[in-house]
Amino acid sequence: MGEGQTLLIPSEGVARYVGVQPGRLHLQYEGMNPSGSFKDNGMSAAFTHARCVGATRAACASTGNTSASLALYCSVTRLMKALIFVGSGKIAYGKLSQALDFGALTVQIAGDFDDAMARVQEVTRQLGIYLVNSVNPFRLEGQKTIMFRVLEGLRWEVPEWIVVPGGNLGNSSAFGKAFDELRRLGLIDRVPRLAVINAAGANTLYELYEKRGLRWNGGSPAEATVRGYYQEMDDQKRRAKTIASAIEINRPVNLMKCLRALEVCDGVVREVPDQEILDAKAQVGAGGLGCEPASAASVAGAKLLVSEGVIGRDQRVVCVLTGHQLKDPDATVAYHTTDQELFNKVLGSRGVRRAAFANRAVTVSNDLDEIIRAIQLYS
Ligand code: F0G
Repeated sequence: MGEGQTLLIPSEGVARYVGVQPGRLHLQYEGMNPSGSFKDNGMSAAFTHARCVGATRAACASTGNTSASLALYCSVTRLMKALIFVGSGKIAYGKLSQALDFGALTVQIAGDFDDAMARVQEVTRQLGIYLVNSVNPFRLEGQKTIMFRVLEGLRWEVPEWIVVPGGNLGNSSAFGKAFDELRRLGLIDRVPRLAVINAAGANTLYELYEKRGLRWNGGSPAEATVRGYYQEMDDQKRRAKTIASAIEINRPVNLMKCLRALEVCDGVVREVPDQEILDAKAQVGAGGLGCEPASAASVAGAKLLVSEGVIGRDQRVVCVLTGHQLKDPDATVAYHTTDQELFNKVLGSRGVRRAAFANRAVTVSNDLDEIIRAIQLYS
């Protein structure tokens, strides 16, 4: 399907916004994949394995992109039936429309992604259905290729930083594995540092890694710390909540593998509020590479790390843009709107107060003179 034919693109505008020197900021634009997100890299590998073992049905829980990708591979090959579990009202319409259009059996669960993820594991076990969530190791093998392309794009010069949004933590885990293996094979002599960026409303990794000191610890991470934190979340009835619906996840299934990646890559974890995610998204869009909110967490995170002095202004930074702009048009339109009610409904409820980089549509009557006046006034 052309998965993986994506490009590493330098962005002067985003470099300025993030605060690094010209030529130092690159965007790995995974929105160009056939289903519009990075998921196709891993899905092509998992789907191939599913075929090897003779699966006739494949399932996932999803915040939208994994399901769009699975649905695409099932429909285009007509070899498998896609079964997808989504939290009711929890996925952006661009993604839901893909799953429906591609003919996936779509089960909307009264709950969120974390609920759907728990259920899909029970259901696939009971019914013997092939599971393609990133607990599936073949997904991670496929997602390593994103980093191979980054290195190709930089002529195999290792950048100082890879910055990636963190949700279920499949990508970050795969990236750490990729760099570890490349170094062992002698294809690179050092690994980049990895920055995983949570949305502030879905910040389990940030809390555990940065606040409570959870580490890979040679393969024996303090599981009691994780259990204790999850128990706290349950006691407080705390659920993930962010405009970046793709990463609205509080119980990442790849938490342990990600800890290993963070160790391999001397990693850091940060959280960014929805306000900063949307401002960063507008900056990415203004440069012509529209992305969905979750993707822009990487840019917002890079900006934060530069302001903290963790990323140096002269260092080479690659932000992974994980999904296409058209995945979530509601968030984009609400950000740029002049309709205060729409803004409040979609964004105000997430603590977003302003749209610093809004490009507002100009409303005019159907009158030639007025249209011309408006164009002259605003251009
Ligand atoms: N960005 C986008 C656009 C995503 O769809 C996801 C995950 C992530 C970032 C986070 O990546 O899980 O590897 O840490 N989406 C999954 C889904 C959960 O169901 O589509 P991760």
